Formats: sequence, C-alpha cells, structure tokens
Amino acid sequence: MKAIQVDGDSLVWADVAAAECTAGTVRIRVHASAINRADLLQRAGGYPPPPGASPIMGLECAGEVIEVGEGVQRCKIGDPVCALLAGGGYAEEVVVPAGQVLPIPRGLTAVQAAALPEVFATAYLNLYMEGALQTAETVIVHAGASGVGTASIQLLKQSNNPVFVTVGSTEKLQTCIALGAAAGAVRHDGSFADAARHWAGETGVGVILDPVGGLYLTDNLNLLGLGGRLVLIGLMGGAVTEINLALLMGKRARVVGSTLRARPISEKAAVMDQLLHKVWPALESGAIKPVIEAEYPIQQVAEAHRLMASNNTVGKIILTL
Ligand SMILES: NC(=O)c1ccc[n+]([C@@H]2O[C@H](COP(=O)([O-])OP(=O)(O)OC[C@H]3O[C@@H](n4cnc5c(N)ncnc54)[C@H](OP(=O)(O)O)[C@@H]3O)[C@@H](O)[C@H]2O)c1
Repeated sequence: MKAIQVDGDSLVWADVAAAECTAGTVRIRVHASAINRADLLQRAGGYPPPPGASPIMGLECAGEVIEVGEGVQRCKIGDPVCALLAGGGYAEEVVVPAGQVLPIPRGLTAVQAAALPEVFATAYLNLYMEGALQTAETVIVHAGASGVGTASIQLLKQSNNPVFVTVGSTEKLQTCIALGAAAGAVRHDGSFADAARHWAGETGVGVILDPVGGLYLTDNLNLLGLGGRLVLIGLMGGAVTEINLALLMGKRARVVGSTLRARPISEKAAVMDQLLHKVWPALESGAIKPVIEAEYPIQQVAEAHRLMASNNTVGKIILTL
C-alpha cells in the first residue's frame, strides 16, 4: 500500500508494507483522513508514536471495512466506518482495534466523518469524563476555533453548559459564537482574564479545557470556581511555569493532565461508545456538524500542514484519497 513517509523535510507518498489484521482488529480502506496538531509535532520528532503504534502519521480516518480479524463482532466487510487511531491514518489502508471503530453517522460522507473521531473523542473525554462536567456548570475552552474547540463548543451547547472561548481573531470569535459559544476573547488583544472574569462572575467557572498550559496557568486557576477542574490537553504556551498552590487548595480545585493517544485500547473504546450513544444521534439529526476548513488530496499533505501551522483555520483539515 501507499502511505505518507517523512523524508527529511519532505513528505512523500511511497510504498510501505501493510500491517497484519490480527484478532480483534479491523482493516479499513481509507477514503479520507484528517490532520491534527499532534501530527506537526510528530513530524518534527517531538511526539513519537506510543509503543506498538504505526510510525505513519494520522490519528483518524473514515472509509470502508475490507477485512475483520478473529472475534470481531462490531462490524463486517463493506461497512462504512470511521476510526480513532494511534497512528497510520495517512495511508491507503489502516489496521485498528475494533473498539476504536464507529459507523459513519447516517447522512454524512466519508470526508465529513474523517473530521470526527479525534476531536470529538478528545472533547468528550476531557469535558465529561476527566472534567466531570455537571449540569449548568460554566466552561472556558481555549483555542475555541481549533478542531477540538469547535467540537467542544457544539457538545457544550447540546448539554446546556455556557462556554467562554479564547481565539486568535474577531472572525474566529464570531464563528465560535455562531456554533454556540456565549462569549469570548481574542488572545492577541491582551489577557483574556478580565473578559472571562466579567463573564463568569465571582463564582468562577466549573471546567477549563486548556491546550495552552504554562502561559495560562495562573489566569486559569484564578478563574476556576470552588471545586473547579482545569483539564490540560496541550502545551502550546509552554510546559514549565510557577504555580500558586494556595489557589488550588483554597478552591479545592483539581488540575488534570490528559492525553488520548497513549491510553489503553479499552479506555479509548469506552470513549468511542460514549460518542456512539451521546454524540452520533446529534450528528445524524444535524444538531452537531463536522466543522471543516479545507480538503487536500493526501499527496498535498505538506500544504495542509502549512495551513494548520499558520493558525488560520477553523475546525478540521481533511486529506482525501
Ligand atoms: N491531550 C490530548 O489528548 C489531545 C488530543 C487532541 C488535541 N490535543 C491538543 O489540543 C489542541 C488543539 O488541537 P487541534 O488539532 O484541534 O488544533 P488546531 O485545529 O490546529 O488548532 C490549534 C489552534 O490553537 C491556537 N494556538 C496556536 N498556538 C497557540 C498558542 N501559543 N497559544 C494559544 N493558542 C494557540 C490557534 O488558534 P487561535 O489563533 O485562534 O488562538 C490554532 O489555530 C492542540 O494543542 C493539541 O495538541 C490534545
């Protein structure tokens, strides 16, 4: 099969050996894949795949089942599916544990479905499972116009949790508000903290979903309410900073670090089951929509990476095969 290979600074569409479809796994012919921020890091050598995962980039895909391993009940050859991957999505075929595979929601194309697994799994896991979000609690989502951000806003609209976002431009803020955000701040206009405090009031917020890390830590802790949870999912603003532990103790707050890719298959399957039951119906009714900035043929993946690195995107960038 062909797959995208990293060759120095170049990304090359080249022949590679296909993986074996072992017990409990499914082979998918990939019709569309999608880019994630982590792919840029992996390409630069800063985010190696977990042990046993494909060295090929690509954390999600949509396509058609072409082989099922022993014991797989969840799907059969010919099913249109999408999947959460630990790697291997930038390829003609991928082999994935069956628990990470879901049907393409009725009414959606493979291109639309490829925009779903990684960002909806990340948003669902970290808001509702790690963040233990409660009814009517308020939320701050940083990088609100990102793939994860646009998924989060839509989930929070469905669960009636008001959300404040931070973004890079007023146009992005308008898009987030159209998706369901209540308010937000443009990060290049100075600290978001005053606007967020004004919005949240003295009680503070219940959950903050943060891919920025060090740069925002103090403001985030100041904005949490009593018993609030800060869920850290990225370090775009640095990994090392000072922390005022008195803020944490006084608020009985929690800081949770979370990654999805390296989790055991059973934990990923549990998240995918939640998506199937809680999110797929909203995708099928049109209440939640995949948010797609651009589509590129997979051979033009380098251009797609450049677009993501520019930060001039809202939602997902798709690779088509
Ligand atoms: N832990 C996990 O399991 C997990 C899983 C998936 C994703 N993530 C993380 O979630 C984040 C979003 O991923 P994605 O694939 O959805 O990304 P994306 O669509 O590429 O969006 C990332 C956005 O973050 C903003 N940004 C960039 N640099 C920033 C900085 N230094 N400070 C603040 N904001 C910055 C930019 O938007 P603006 O210019 O509009 O602010 C950029 O468009 C990434 O950090 C990713 O690593 C974590």
